[in-house]
Amino acid sequence: MGIVVLGTGSCLPKRVMTNVDLESIVDTNDEWIRSRTGIESRHIGGKDEQTFKLAAKASLKALESAGVAADEIGLIVVGTISSHMQMPSTACFVQNEIGANKAFAYDLNAACSGFLYGLDLAHKYILADHGMKILVIGAETLSSRLDWNDRNTCILFGDGAGAVVLGYSEDDRGIVGTNLLSDGSLWELLHMHGPESANPELKVEGYSGAFIRMEGREVFKHAVRAMEDSVTTLLAREGLTIDDVSLVIPHQANIRILNKLIDRLKVSQDKVFINVSKCGNTSAASIPIALDDANRQGLIAKDDLILFCSFGGGFTWGAALIKW
Ligand code: COA
Repeated sequence: MGIVVLGTGSCLPKRVMTNVDLESIVDTNDEWIRSRTGIESRHIGGKDEQTFKLAAKASLKALESAGVAADEIGLIVVGTISSHMQMPSTACFVQNEIGANKAFAYDLNAACSGFLYGLDLAHKYILADHGMKILVIGAETLSSRLDWNDRNTCILFGDGAGAVVLGYSEDDRGIVGTNLLSDGSLWELLHMHGPESANPELKVEGYSGAFIRMEGREVFKHAVRAMEDSVTTLLAREGLTIDDVSLVIPHQANIRILNKLIDRLKVSQDKVFINVSKCGNTSAASIPIALDDANRQGLIAKDDLILFCSFGGGFTWGAALIKW
């Protein structure tokens, strides 16, 4: 018996912003961005493409591919750091949008690891209640949280949403294991302040606006090491090796991070799904968008072992294995 992915879906905003488009916004160029990040373009939300709208569209596609009706969903979890409003949660907006009127709904903040944290949580809910079906979504409009004068960050991120429907199965497929970790002591290296405090006593020291701030080089080093460690620990714990894995779907942060990870894990390049060139880093949405992309391209077959790994602000990181 296992907790299986019943269906996948994703949604990207219509507008595509290329590196050349960015040249007229900040002092950068296509060659620098491509060579340092592997990103060629990213999608940027426009009218009616708020985080919850993208999440709802991805969810409807996931429900359709699962053959599950919205009112069969018991829980909606949205991993996001760019929620539509501070309150209510993006998950509640999604519930309303798709008519999942029997669900309870809430958001989860684990930055770029939000989807994997949501997957782990859904796994444990369904283990406790086999009848439950859960929508796990990663959705972001990071374009609304970028300092468009900061070339260190604004070139990296994009908008989008991905979703999966999870449910119980009697056969031996499903989530094999997860390995999640956090280290709050390193928060400053990758963070985003919220709205400025209305209470002068509670103002955040060094408040620099509600934008993503990052020490790129430090984040790079930690990301490679952390993802490698979480993957090797998980594989060892499950008595598996990287050769047992059919497809790796990593967080799509940056091609240089991914290439280093590929080297360290000694996994062949053709077993790693990469779409960062056209999406950029979509934080919590990046793994479920890539998963849906791979699934719809027919790259995943029944019984395949799929490995996910992520790294993000917090720091948060981890890995998960699913027998498809
Ligand atoms: N265009 C052109 N030049 C840029 C630039 C841009 N968008 N951003 C920075 N530069 C410049 C810097 O100002 C610096 O110039 P200087 O040498 O004159 O001071 C030079 O390029 C090198 O900057 P540096 O920050 O050392 O570059 P880097 O090789 O470390 O690459 C990142 C920067 C951000 C691409 C890289 O550090 C990285 O990928 N980090 C991880 C980011 C990430 O994935 N975060 C999310 C994790 S979930």
